[in-house]
Amino acid sequence: MDAAFQAYRVAEDVYWVGAIDWNVRNFHGYQTGRGTTYNAFLLLSDTVTLIDTVKAPFYDEMMSRIASVIDPAKIEYIVSNHSEMDHSGSLPRTMTAVSPKKVFASKMGQRALANHFHINPESITVVGDGDEIDLGGMKLSFAETRMCHWPDSMVSYLHEREILFSQDAFGMHLAGYERFADEVSREVLDYESAKYYANILLHLSPFIEKTLAKLNDLNLPLSMVAPDHGPIWRTGEDIRRILGEYARWAKQTPTKKAVVVYDTMWGSTDVMARAICEGLSAGGMDVKLMHLQSAHRSDVVTELLQAGALLVGSPTMNNQIFPSVADTMTYLKGLQPRNLVAAAFGSYGWSGEAPKHLTTMLEEMGLNVLTEPLRITYVPDARALGECRQLGQTVAQAVEELLLRGDERE
Ligand SMILES: Cc1cc2nc3c(=O)[nH]c(=O)nc-3n(C[C@H](O)[C@H](O)[C@H](O)COP(=O)(O)O)c2cc1C
Ligand SMILES: [Fe+2]
Ligand SMILES: [Fe+2]
Repeated sequence: MDAAFQAYRVAEDVYWVGAIDWNVRNFHGYQTGRGTTYNAFLLLSDTVTLIDTVKAPFYDEMMSRIASVIDPAKIEYIVSNHSEMDHSGSLPRTMTAVSPKKVFASKMGQRALANHFHINPESITVVGDGDEIDLGGMKLSFAETRMCHWPDSMVSYLHEREILFSQDAFGMHLAGYERFADEVSREVLDYESAKYYANILLHLSPFIEKTLAKLNDLNLPLSMVAPDHGPIWRTGEDIRRILGEYARWAKQTPTKKAVVVYDTMWGSTDVMARAICEGLSAGGMDVKLMHLQSAHRSDVVTELLQAGALLVGSPTMNNQIFPSVADTMTYLKGLQPRNLVAAAFGSYGWSGEAPKHLTTMLEEMGLNVLTEPLRITYVPDARALGECRQLGQTVAQAVEELLLRGDERE
């Protein structure tokens, strides 16, 4: 009888032996609404090589896929491109099961794997920029891509098949049997790859630019770019497109989109937010209103990846920012969105600290904070809502000027 979980051939002597995680919805704070895959790849060269592994609970699924094409004990080399546990979690068990001759990682990867699994660092062979290993019939070379996503991150290139195994870079969280991007709808690819960039890599944009420059200098022919999550890019057009998107996202050029994020207890900050949207729209902005009871922080940062303004609203509760708003702001602060006009607003009763704290946070984030926070006591009347609309128009005007300055620079 055939094994349930089988390898998937992606090129001659190259197999996908990863795992499909249909049910994961929380990836360290990132809501993965479509699940994900952990991609591992098996190279059936004379020296059988495994590139990356899968998250620990999926060890059996990976092993079964490997066993469908070869006795796992034949694996002689394992390459760890990234030591984060979604890719290394099954490494210790795999090492015990197959006793590989060598396990390769970057210098920082060696240290990180030792610190994760308390294994002897000498059991890891360090490889770095330009190093090449002969697999018998195939050659694999390495390029370090520090901070893309962690200090240990590196990519591996299989010369004979022109495949770049790019670890987290160029990936997306998307469960499914479609192993290639050209089998997935454009809308899903665009949203999930942008969401991945915004939630995992945005604050590392300077390192992304270095990685792109390095790949450009290496000038490798690319038939496939195979990340560690989601589908493989294999058409020339798809490969050019994802590389181009990364270059564009890393720059964070402002657009005419305004994102209004808020929460509310009794509806006052909500009606303020909606009045602000009226002003933004009248000022020519595309508007995205995100109430944090129905929008997730990871979707907020996705919208901000290609925006020009961020408006944050919170009622004051016990002298503080409302918890859901503080949560999203802490998340945004870490991911460092740039080139945004920003403003804070909110309803309060007697002390009204929340919009002031938000303004301080927006300033600390290095955003272009326009005005004093807009604060309204209790329930806004028509005049107060007029002020909200005016705030929207003021922000729209500021974004327009920001875009004009950007055009002049180009
Ligand atoms: C549990 C609770 C705590 C509050 N704490 C404060 C406070 O410390 N300072 C303040 O100015 N207002 C405080 N308020 C008043 C609210 O900020 C005020 O009702 C505001 O209009 C609520 O806006 P919302 O309708 O957008 O929730 C508190 C209200 C609640 C329900
Ligand atoms: Fe990672
Ligand atoms: Fe990952």
